[in-house]
Amino acid sequence: MKVAIGTDHGGICLKSAIIDYLKSKGIEFCDFGTFSTDSVDYPDIAYPVAKAVAEGKFDKGILLCGTGIGMSITANKVKGIRAAVLSDEFSAQATAEHNDTNVLALGGRVVSPEKAVKLVDIWLSTPFAGGRHQQRIDKIKAIEESN
Ligand code: RB5
Repeated sequence: MKVAIGTDHGGICLKSAIIDYLKSKGIEFCDFGTFSTDSVDYPDIAYPVAKAVAEGKFDKGILLCGTGIGMSITANKVKGIRAAVLSDEFSAQATAEHNDTNVLALGGRVVSPEKAVKLVDIWLSTPFAGGRHQQRIDKIKAIEESN
């Protein structure tokens, strides 16, 4: 599995814990920045990460900002991306199982680094359930195609 990770200044407090986790699991990753706490605009990070996932260069993307919301809004503008922002374990499992999300967005001002790692672990290790959920994903794709 290959993971693309990106953050703005609001999410950078989560990045090293998540990278340590990815390393500990032997998961290949690419860090799209940012690399300091200087203020940056989250779309400038979210777009290249989402595009790289949509193009198949990475299996999954992880985006971090203050809330996760700006990152998820931006990522969901890219065709083929299903991004979810979440802060609880149930949603981490459900969005992998039901929505086949390919981008996870987390907020550095919402969850602790320990919680973020737990959510990433659940999300990456939960398979998509398919079946009736695939039919719903197909409807999302049809909406995307018609817009
Ligand atoms: C930056 O202050 C903040 O707006 C950003 O990190 C994010 O929370 C936006 O959704």
